[in-house]
This record gives sequence, C-alpha cells and structure tokens, in this order.
Amino acid sequence: MRPQVWAHRGASAEAPENSLAAFAKAIEIGVDGIELDVQRTADGILVVTHDETTDRVTGQSGSIAQLTLAQLRQFNFAAPWPDQPATVLPTLDEVLDLCRATSLRINIELKNSEVPYRGMEKHVLDRVLAFGLQDQVIYSSFNPFSLWRLRWIAPEAPRGYLYSEVRPRPWLAAALTGATALHPSLANLDVPGLVEGAHRRGLAVHVWTVDEPGQWEHCHQLAVDAIITNRPREALAFFTPSQLRSRPQPGQLFSSGR
Ligand code: G3P
Ligand code: CA
Repeated sequence: MRPQVWAHRGASAEAPENSLAAFAKAIEIGVDGIELDVQRTADGILVVTHDETTDRVTGQSGSIAQLTLAQLRQFNFAAPWPDQPATVLPTLDEVLDLCRATSLRINIELKNSEVPYRGMEKHVLDRVLAFGLQDQVIYSSFNPFSLWRLRWIAPEAPRGYLYSEVRPRPWLAAALTGATALHPSLANLDVPGLVEGAHRRGLAVHVWTVDEPGQWEHCHQLAVDAIITNRPREALAFFTPSQLRSRPQPGQLFSSGR
C-alpha cells in the first residue's frame, strides 16, 4: 500500500502556503490529507499561518499575537509569490469550512513553541468539534506539553509527536506525551528500524517534508503511513498504480534476493 499524501501548508508549490487557495488546490488535486499551521491573533482568533511574525509572508513587519485579525487582514499574505493573486490571512474556521464536505485527513499543527498561546489546545479542539471534523483531524506540535494537554482534554483525539532533530528512540518521548503517531523530519528515516519500531508500538509514522521522487520511493519501501509534501500533485502521480507496478514493492529492495 502506498503512503498517504498530505499537502504541506496546502498545495504550497502551486499556491501561497497556508492560503485558502493552497487548500482548495490540494482538494482539487485529490490529496489524502492536508497539513496546516495555527497561530492566534491579539483578539483571540485562530488563524492559519506558519510564522509568529508577518515579515516573511507579507514583507511587512508585525507579530501575529500582537495584531488583531482586522489589522492582519490589511496585509497581503502572498508577498513571496508575486505571480499569485494577493491573499488574506485565513482563519482556522475558514479552512475547516473548506474541508467540511471532504473526507480529508487534516493535520493541525499548533504553533505554540515560541508563543505559548495559553488555552490554544481547547480552543482548537472546540472549533474542530463545531465543524464536526473530529474524526478527520490529527493534532501535532513541537511543544510536548501541548500534546500532553491535548491528551488531558481529549484523550480520544489523535496526536502526532512532531520532531526535527534525529532521535534513535522517539517512542519513549512519544509515550510520555501520549502521542498516537510519530511526525519525524525526513532525516529520521536514517534511524535503523524507525518505522518498524513505531508500528510495533502501535504508532503511525507521518514524515515531513518529502518532496523528491527518491524520497517518496524510500518512504514507500519503509511502509511509512503518510508523507507530508509541498508537491502533492507530483507525489500522487508517482504513486499511481501503474507507476507502482513498474517499481519494486515494499520489502523487495531490501530482501536477500532469494
Ligand atoms: O508538521 C510538519 C512540518 O510542517 C513541521 O515543520 O516548520 O514546516 O511547520 P514546519
Ligand atoms: Ca507545519
């Protein structure tokens, strides 16, 4: 079975990252899931954007946590993509509304490592419940305390232990936070037995950010459950049944050849 294909910040190679256009494009492409980043404005609105500041994506200096939604909506959040139409900052509600009629897997990453955003976990859970999307969402965060709080509030909600640095035994930390999946950076696939070890412990493995055919193949061979990619269109084409038939199936590359 091929890995699921989740569009990282939406179809971010084709539209401004974390924009409604990027999520709509991902849906149109036919992805299995999307990944998105949540921050919170000064007036308490959950919004979908990666950075704590507006600088990189708007070209104007500002802090998400210190500006109101109305103020932030004055900015064009597509500044690094001059060939794309101007884009306003989407709220989490708007993205969830877009997903309402789909069966997409929705990976909501709580961006609460730099700005703690007190109470963000319950706020996000409530919005997901309000849209009836609780069966489609998996939460993740680089902040282990946030995962722990999510487990406390909603033990049934799937949670991904998100990490970047290479860790030989991530399931220990994952168990401490009560995670139900690992969300390792791509470099972690070099850890021997990572995927197998995770699966043995009942943890799914969702790897980021996987943008090259050789990496997609590697993930497939290792039986990774989902890849999180900026290039979902190409990844899905790579995993079409006819393309898969022309390549070795998982396990074959690493067998003894007997
Ligand atoms: O959730 C996976 C990945 O998005 C984490 O890194 O910096 O792209 O949010 P980042
Ligand atoms: Ca992210």
